[in-house]
Amino acid sequence: MIITDEIRGVFAAQIAKMENSALADLTVEIFTKGCERGGWETVEELKKIPFTLLTDCHGVTFIEHVIAVTDGAYALAKAQLDTYATVPYPIDLDRVLAGGILHDVGKLMEIERDGNGGYRKSRAGHCARHPISGAILAAECGASDEIVNTIACHAKEGDGRSQVVETVFIHQADFATFNPLVMKAAGKLIVRGQV
Ligand SMILES: [Fe+2]
Repeated sequence: MIITDEIRGVFAAQIAKMENSALADLTVEIFTKGCERGGWETVEELKKIPFTLLTDCHGVTFIEHVIAVTDGAYALAKAQLDTYATVPYPIDLDRVLAGGILHDVGKLMEIERDGNGGYRKSRAGHCARHPISGAILAAECGASDEIVNTIACHAKEGDGRSQVVETVFIHQADFATFNPLVMKAAGKLIVRGQV
């Protein structure tokens, strides 16, 4: 069974930037609960989960993805806070970090091992995509409506929907990691020496 201290260790660099310790604790608690609900027993096992089942990950793992998205969203938020003389909307960096860590927590329930060394979509995943299952889990654990929004609306479910600005940063960072893989699979990613 994965315990909260182990999850705190996985996301140590991101959690260290959070000022609101109650939100940091809740973030860790929700992620740990996701591991439990998805049946992931060890951190070693957790770190092997692939980023996505939707395209070839080329070895990028779920945890690497979550960290890259959290750091990317944080950088997008910081760039505006540090550059604009007047920031046109409030930006909550703790919410960016918590939402980044939690945006894909539903994948812990959406993905399961297939028994042949690979992974497949679980029955729960067929019933509800990860933005929905993750939002439900976070709400059950007492997350704010705004944190629920970062999870529920970070992917296509959020298209055309109302969003807190932190969701916008998380969405953009998320697709900055997903789109190049999809483009690579479609032969549309221009790389050195290839069209
Ligand atoms: Fe994601």
